[in-house]
Amino acid sequence: MSSNRKLMVMPGDGIGPEVMNETLRLLDWLAKYKNINFDTIERDVGGKSYDLHGTPLTDEALSDALECDAVLFGAVGGPKYDDLDFELKPERGLLTLRKELDLFANLRPAIVFPPLVEASTLKPEVVEGLDIMILRELTGGVYFAEPRGIDIMPDGSKKGYDTNLYTTPEIERIGRVAFDLAKKRNNKVTSVEKANVMLSGVLWREVISELSEEYPDVELSHMLVDNAAMQLVRDPKQFDVIVTGNLFGDILSDIAAMLTGSIGMLPSASLNSDNKGMYEPVHGSAPDISGKELANPIAAILSVAMMLKYSFNMSEASSAIEN
Ligand code: IPM
Ligand code: MG
Repeated sequence: MSSNRKLMVMPGDGIGPEVMNETLRLLDWLAKYKNINFDTIERDVGGKSYDLHGTPLTDEALSDALECDAVLFGAVGGPKYDDLDFELKPERGLLTLRKELDLFANLRPAIVFPPLVEASTLKPEVVEGLDIMILRELTGGVYFAEPRGIDIMPDGSKKGYDTNLYTTPEIERIGRVAFDLAKKRNNKVTSVEKANVMLSGVLWREVISELSEEYPDVELSHMLVDNAAMQLVRDPKQFDVIVTGNLFGDILSDIAAMLTGSIGMLPSASLNSDNKGMYEPVHGSAPDISGKELANPIAAILSVAMMLKYSFNMSEASSAIEN
């Protein structure tokens, strides 16, 4: 009999296992010094899973992940898998986990730690003290909406297409997370879309605006995504919480990562409506440096801090790790 929390560990590919090894040392430290214990199980995902089981995520690994209280994820992908069918690519394993666990809220904080100000390619005064939160919708939008496909046309040429689609409930639930986060931070939400061109963006703006009436203390502004990309490198400290859809969040969070000096610095939490979560560094599998002991494990380590805070309400232990 054990009342320990159940933790799924999925190291994945490339530098995933390297950074995961460092986080596992942290779990030992938590047990020893904070009396926080996890029962961990490890499962394959991504290219590793494809190599061993012929699929980037087995049904068993998925159902085991659904049983756990949280998932620690490394990274997936690599050039070795470039020519695989779309459905067998390592990334599908990650996307299936996000979808099946209903992890719609992806929190990607970008924080510049004082000793690392010089690590950024931007001027120190632009990034010094930066602390912003990018909230990315993670289970909808162009990543998942149908129809999508590559079809052959009558003249023999092909068309490739994806659909960007957001429903009112989808926008509302991510919007609520944004406003609630802002209330615990600096009371500012910037909602990002492309409402001048995309109808899904028009609806996004409308729903977020209506929702903001329930949060009179939070200042809301809207920004088009191209401008948001520019503002992020021009004056990132103007932001507090940025809320945006799946694709724009993917892109803007990589920009935000570079403000901090390295994508190896950015942790993330992906949460469902019960705060069950998957925690992963924003960086990918970095095949160019994998196996060379060069990978920066800070993003993975900070992901554990996020797990303690968001899934298990253990702020003290979470801060201890950050410190
Ligand atoms: C990320 C990654 C993934 C994404 C890839 C690996 C599918 O870039 O988590 O940002 O696009 O969501
Ligand atoms: Mg990305």
